[in-house]
Amino acid sequence: MGSSKAEYGPGAESPGKVTSTATLARKTGEKITSVTAYDYSTAKLVDAAGVDIILVGDSLGMVVLGYPDTTRVTLDDMVHHTHAVTRAQPRALVVTDLPFLCAGVSTRDTVRNAGRLVREAGAEAVKLEGGVRVRDEIRGLVDCQIPVMGHVGLTPQSKHAFGGFKLQGRTAEAADQVLRDALAVQEGGAFSIVLEGIPAALGDRITRELDIPTIGIGAGPGCDGQVLVIHDMLHLFLDFTPVFAKVYADVGSTTREALKRYCEEVHDGHFPAKEHCY
Ligand code: KIV
Repeated sequence: MGSSKAEYGPGAESPGKVTSTATLARKTGEKITSVTAYDYSTAKLVDAAGVDIILVGDSLGMVVLGYPDTTRVTLDDMVHHTHAVTRAQPRALVVTDLPFLCAGVSTRDTVRNAGRLVREAGAEAVKLEGGVRVRDEIRGLVDCQIPVMGHVGLTPQSKHAFGGFKLQGRTAEAADQVLRDALAVQEGGAFSIVLEGIPAALGDRITRELDIPTIGIGAGPGCDGQVLVIHDMLHLFLDFTPVFAKVYADVGSTTREALKRYCEEVHDGHFPAKEHCY
């Protein structure tokens, strides 16, 4: 009213803020970047680099909490870590994973669980794994005004059902099933979808078939965006590095070297020096 600003409310103070609706519109635009973060300081770094989406992934169960897979992560864990990330007030969209059995049981439970992530921790969207079997739950979340990112292909919460972390969609039949799952996620009303652990050709095919942006991890270059676990790309998680993860900086080795030097300097009396003393 009388102002040239089209937006109103708190969002008007951060015009560059990434939203779920802006992400949906990126289907035809520049590729989307997403990286995981699980704490305040990392969220600040990721945001300062201009990453579009911070994913508070349940991968935190493995890379932060030391579990063998993601099935032991609780909703309380996700609330705790999401809150640490949103306290950084990032420009990036904050999407949080619904952990194992917090979705996929009933729409009522899924909405209630997602509601905690939004209301208590400030998540701006939730991600849930599954396709056809969770279409109605996605619809229920969207109806309750909670934006949803889907996740199909190698869904890590299905590790036991899959018999391990195994590439999905290898045969023509299996590829068709992954496509059906992706279409169901879109029908449910998701604004984007993660494609994980599928052949690059299938990632490309699904990306062409869908109207919503696909964000790949081990799904080839044809996707509308990419997501990586920050501990993989910085080599902070030493147990294993997946084939699809590129190490952009070996921060793990740098950290180890720094710590060794610290121990040496404490032992030989070089630390603390004069400038570190009151
Ligand atoms: O939990 C996670 O970090 C994820 C990504 C691997 C997509 O789901």
